[in-house]
Amino acid sequence: MFEKFKKSKKEPGSISEEEIVKGPIPNHIAIIMDGNGRWAKKRSLPRTAGHHEGMKVVKRVTKLASRLGVKALTVYAFSTENWKRPEDEVNFLLKLPEEFMGTFLPELVEENVRVQIMGNKDAIPTHTQKAVDKAVNDTKHNTGMVLNFALNYGGRAEIIEAVNNILVDYQEGNLHNKVDETLFDQYLMSAGLQDPDLLIRTSGEIRLSNFMLWQLAYTEFWFTDVLWPDFKEQHLLEAIQAYQKRGRRFGGI
Ligand code: IPE
Ligand code: IPE
Ligand code: MG
Repeated sequence: MFEKFKKSKKEPGSISEEEIVKGPIPNHIAIIMDGNGRWAKKRSLPRTAGHHEGMKVVKRVTKLASRLGVKALTVYAFSTENWKRPEDEVNFLLKLPEEFMGTFLPELVEENVRVQIMGNKDAIPTHTQKAVDKAVNDTKHNTGMVLNFALNYGGRAEIIEAVNNILVDYQEGNLHNKVDETLFDQYLMSAGLQDPDLLIRTSGEIRLSNFMLWQLAYTEFWFTDVLWPDFKEQHLLEAIQAYQKRGRRFGGI
């Protein structure tokens, strides 16, 4: 590009990374990545094209979040309710993590990102499980941001599973104390991660869709009409800027 066409100044109203890192950065950001299907429909493309484009956005958002010093980024990739979709779409969605890891793993390693998964892995195809296990294994010694994929995840299923595992541990005589919040946390699929500070949902839907029901008890919510494949670095900065202006009281004054 010719020098004179290069933008030397920020877009009016744009937010810079430098500006954002001066304020508190959410330790854990959770994202309900929604609107892939509508994005594709607007372009007369198959829904799967929207999912594919959405995968690229996960890469960009991961890199920015890691640069900003976010400790954990959880992305909702497939819900326990998404099995209701046509088989072709389900198959495509459950194959995507394989492509994501296949193309992005070297960068994740380089960025010092640690990959984790939460959800019922047993029901996902073996090839996807393998790709995911490899990513988890290859990044397990990384000390930077945790990239946590919610894959075949449902908040209610997670709570029920926790309760059942508590019952098993009780019956086997491994549980000696009363169950409190700290102990319960350890039985959740998000064990080891702090509760999200910021929840982002794209595409204009204002609901949780069975996402992290326990963990979001005191999270700040940020909703945008932007469809996930259109979500840019600037939108993440906007969400964090909004978060930085919130007064978190946790019931206090
Ligand atoms: C989000 O996009 C991706 C998943 C739920 C897996 P959608 O596929 O839900 O897109 P819309 O909501 O139909 O536009
Ligand atoms: C939530 O989006 C699930 C994921 C983003 C993976 P959906 O598109 O499935 O949610 P609903 O059906 O609009 O509630
Ligand atoms: Mg949707």
